[in-house]
Amino acid sequence: MKKKTEMLTRNEHDERESAFEQLKIYGGRKLFGCVEVDASKNAFLPILAGCLLCEDEVCLKNYVNLSDLGNMRKILNVLNVSSSLSGKELYINPKKIENVKITHDLASLVRASIIVLGALLGRFRGGVIAYPGGCKIGSRPIDIHLKSFRALGVRVIERHGYIYCHGQNMKAGKVVLDFPSVGATESLMLCGCLLNGESVFLNVAKEPEIVDLQNFLNAMGADVSGAGTDCIVVRGVKKLHGGQFSVMPDRIVAGTYLLAAAICGGDVEVEKTFFRHNESLISFLRQSACKIDVFDDRIRLRADKRLSSIPKIQTLPYPSFPTDLQPQMMVLQAVSSGVSIIQENLFENRFGVVPELRKMGADIVIKDRTACVVGVEKLYGADVCASDLRAGAALVLAGLKAEGYTTISNVSYIDRGYERIEEKLSLLGADIKRGLFE
Ligand code: UD1
Repeated sequence: MKKKTEMLTRNEHDERESAFEQLKIYGGRKLFGCVEVDASKNAFLPILAGCLLCEDEVCLKNYVNLSDLGNMRKILNVLNVSSSLSGKELYINPKKIENVKITHDLASLVRASIIVLGALLGRFRGGVIAYPGGCKIGSRPIDIHLKSFRALGVRVIERHGYIYCHGQNMKAGKVVLDFPSVGATESLMLCGCLLNGESVFLNVAKEPEIVDLQNFLNAMGADVSGAGTDCIVVRGVKKLHGGQFSVMPDRIVAGTYLLAAAICGGDVEVEKTFFRHNESLISFLRQSACKIDVFDDRIRLRADKRLSSIPKIQTLPYPSFPTDLQPQMMVLQAVSSGVSIIQENLFENRFGVVPELRKMGADIVIKDRTACVVGVEKLYGADVCASDLRAGAALVLAGLKAEGYTTISNVSYIDRGYERIEEKLSLLGADIKRGLFE
């Protein structure tokens, strides 16, 4: 076994630092070169929870230093599941889980903590968790998760801010989701792996991260099929073993870099990404007049003039346009020629970036869940503040395009999902620095 280095301290240090740090961008440069995409945060999180189902050590081979993953490791740590890094390999030891309660201070750190409950139910037939946190992009209810647990025979009691789950009478069975929630689909998959018999989950989410979770679980000895369609079948097995797994690349990060290139102009190749993960985005980018070449595991984007607006964009579950790219796409519309109507169907507070973009000269009007974006010739640098992870990424893209200096505060939001975004963009020729600026 390789020497392991404890990483929680580094994560904690990074988090404390980024709470005050800002990004300062001098806009107007075109982007050129290659950028490699790291492992997906949204695939990593449920897989980390899935490790609780195993009885031996698990090695996740391409860890990425994101604060959301650091926070998930803190939650596992409290359950007595140690995790340690050797280079980019994360070793997780879920042998002696001693605690099945996740308190408010931890659950509030990351929304995906609710998925840990699915794993605790799967392995121990019980668990307690405070209501989960996450980015403030909407009310983010968990009713579909709890209804699904109940459908498998779990007694769920909500008291004093905690959810108590008693699963002594859990049984494999059929569950039809009211909406294809990504998190609820993942919770159910984790719940079903160790149940006796066959479970069938219908109207489930079809996101690529669900397929990755299925691949992980099967690599550890589970019997899950159907991920990527709207029906997942889980045949219970006695136990899961340890093993190694490489988590899929992040399609939202890849989409963010493609949009950066479209907004700034230039010639950028995004490596370690798949066309099928971002088909809806790529189709819009082609409509806007970007030149796009698709290869097996990389995508090249060239843009050399002002692009055309997309008249109507709406966010919907995969394979439609993802809500996680909506704020970044809004920046492209803000500087394209024409008018774009953007409808946000997933999260009601996902227009948090709009007041900040207006400070930079964007012409955007919001009514309920619809934004009307009239493309302007120029954005201007300004002091702006990230209100959540993807809004933060969108402000970075706006700053890259804007005339003059843009300073972005609340960088810790961006660090939840992008590892050192300024380093990757600098390699493409952007003028972007992290630090404490006045
Ligand atoms: C996941 C992603 C997030 C992405 C979202 C939608 C992770 C860690 N996060 O979040 O980045 O933006 O998918 O693609 O993978 N809903 C309910 N009740 C529930 C659960 C969800 O009403 O119990 C609603 C939500 O409010 C939202 C919609 O369903 O309107 C989709 O949510 P869901 O797919 O569950 O998103 P998350 O899993 O939280």
